[in-house]
Amino acid sequence: MFAVLKTKVKAIIQDTSLDSTEKMQSICDTLQNGVSYYDWVGFYFKNGDKRELKLGPYTGEPTDHTIIPFGKGICGQVAESNQNFVVPDVQAQDNYIACSITVKSEIVVPLFKNGENIGQIDIDSNTPDPFTEEDERFLEYVNAQVAQIL
Ligand code: SME
Repeated sequence: MFAVLKTKVKAIIQDTSLDSTEKMQSICDTLQNGVSYYDWVGFYFKNGDKRELKLGPYTGEPTDHTIIPFGKGICGQVAESNQNFVVPDVQAQDNYIACSITVKSEIVVPLFKNGENIGQIDIDSNTPDPFTEEDERFLEYVNAQVAQIL
């Protein structure tokens, strides 16, 4: 599954008819369609010089959380830790921002450009504890590809 998706992501990155926002949108759509337990897929990016994240392209239910301060929620923690954050059960997290009551688990992987943490990919799942190291490696690959067009 991830091998096929990697090929699709690579093709989107190389598609000269799309600008970078359209490419990220297409990647969100492709991931959400391609993985049964990826229910919400989106990118957040550092908002200029502010210590906050701003929502970028996403697929899934609209969220109120278009701005997330550094340190807040899973996303805000990854902005500071620079490390993947896999949450098998969101209800077990104190520092968590709920977007939808159907969400059971979440994975956030930072996106580095020239070694700097400039954003992240965030995935919500309605399935409990679905994420493995394969998801982490795959999403690291996706972010490395996206970094090339930013
Ligand atoms: N749950 C995230 C907030 C973003 S929504 O999942 C889209 C968090 O705790 O940071």
